[in-house]
Amino acid sequence: MNSGAKQLSIGMLGCGVVGSQVARLLQDDEQELSERSGAVLRLLKVGVRTAGPREGVNPALITTDLQSIVSDPSINIVIEVMGGIEPAKSLILEAIKNGKSVITANKALLATHGHELFNAADAAKVDLYYEAAVAGAIPIIRSMRESLAGDQITRVMGIVNGTTNYILTKMHEEGRAFDEVLKEAQALGYAEADPTADIEGHDAAAKAALLASLAFHSTVVIDEVYCEGISKISSDDVAAAKSMNSVIKLLAIAELTVKDEISVRVHPVILPAAHPLASVRNAFNAVYVEAEAAGQLMFYGRGAGGAPTASAILGDLVAVARHAAYSTVGYGESDYADLDIAPIGAVKSQFFVRLHVADKSGVLASIAQTFASENVSIQTVRQAGLGEDAELVVVTHAASEDALDACIAKLKKMDIVSKVESVIRVEGAQS
Ligand SMILES: NC(=O)c1ccc[n+]([C@@H]2O[C@H](COP(=O)([O-])OP(=O)(O)OC[C@H]3O[C@@H](n4cnc5c(N)ncnc54)[C@H](OP(=O)(O)O)[C@@H]3O)[C@@H](O)[C@H]2O)c1
Repeated sequence: MNSGAKQLSIGMLGCGVVGSQVARLLQDDEQELSERSGAVLRLLKVGVRTAGPREGVNPALITTDLQSIVSDPSINIVIEVMGGIEPAKSLILEAIKNGKSVITANKALLATHGHELFNAADAAKVDLYYEAAVAGAIPIIRSMRESLAGDQITRVMGIVNGTTNYILTKMHEEGRAFDEVLKEAQALGYAEADPTADIEGHDAAAKAALLASLAFHSTVVIDEVYCEGISKISSDDVAAAKSMNSVIKLLAIAELTVKDEISVRVHPVILPAAHPLASVRNAFNAVYVEAEAAGQLMFYGRGAGGAPTASAILGDLVAVARHAAYSTVGYGESDYADLDIAPIGAVKSQFFVRLHVADKSGVLASIAQTFASENVSIQTVRQAGLGEDAELVVVTHAASEDALDACIAKLKKMDIVSKVESVIRVEGAQS
């Protein structure tokens, strides 16, 4: 590093699971990070809610006055790792207004107010980077935005929530029930005390919105993402999927429809064991991208945790610092395509329908007729159990959600159907 290298000061908002690792790595790797970015990087202030020392952080840097960080003229780059919508949003806007580039891991904020924040960064000619907001250490944002910038992405499917993938893996491999595995995940720290955001798919939906926006150059917000979680997935569903040589995964899916609309959704999916995403186990994440010229790509790694997430933040920091050192900025958000969101009812999938029916002659024909009456054609039917009650597992060919919903409503009214146990979408099977 030459002696005249620019000095860049960093302010950090938050010092919890992620922030403490960012502070540690900034300190441990200061020399390398400075060499790589072409500027001397120095952590100047760290904002927290509760005053007091933080392990590995110089106590003199800690402040509870976060406003003083975003308004400090000597700070060039702000790292936001506090989470939540407010005050994070106001603090980021203030930092941008004051000419600071911002790096954030805050998917909830970007999936709700990203448009406003990116416009503000654009207007102020500063960077707003967010690699850590989707799938932790996996470099998916930069890959989609830069490496695939010349291609047409047609579909993105991701396992982007480690908690739900851990639960589904244990249910599949150990035959255990959802509630039992959730309790274990909480005890091991893989699931929050309030696991709603993870198990109901909200965390994955925020990431789906960010991936869809990036893939299709359009603004997609979390409220536009159709979302179903995994809390209704039973051991019987997992066992039925297993008997089809398949697994159940919670996927975030963003794809272009034939009408050039974006279908963006989060829901459990039955995937054949041979699909690349089926082998992603435990708390790992993976994003599978299909692009016109590149074909299929898969990105795999740790989607959460202090150090993996800090790795993504430091990658952004080096990029942003390089720009600041040479008085330039990187890419901004691109939303020129401005595509519409496809209504969920029109989206076509294959479906797995598990139902209990009376075990008597003619039942199969009546069930098949009901599917046919809504133009849902059946690919396979498997029957298990004898006696009063038999279980049928029907897998359909591709049908619209509306057609399938109409079909399920009819099935539920049939005397011979005692219960429709579950309806799960099927991906990647031969249709
Ligand atoms: N944890 C992960 O694996 C992970 C992975 C990817 C992305 N992220 C994202 O990274 C961000 C941070 O997550 P985290 O797990 O590090 O959170 P965390 O452990 O709860 O830490 C949050 C930090 O922000 C501070 N803070 C929160 N609200 C504040 C407020 N109103 N005023 C001042 N300080 C405030 C807290 O202060 P105190 O220390 O005083 O409580 C704490 O230091 C979130 O946006 C999250 O979605 C996390």
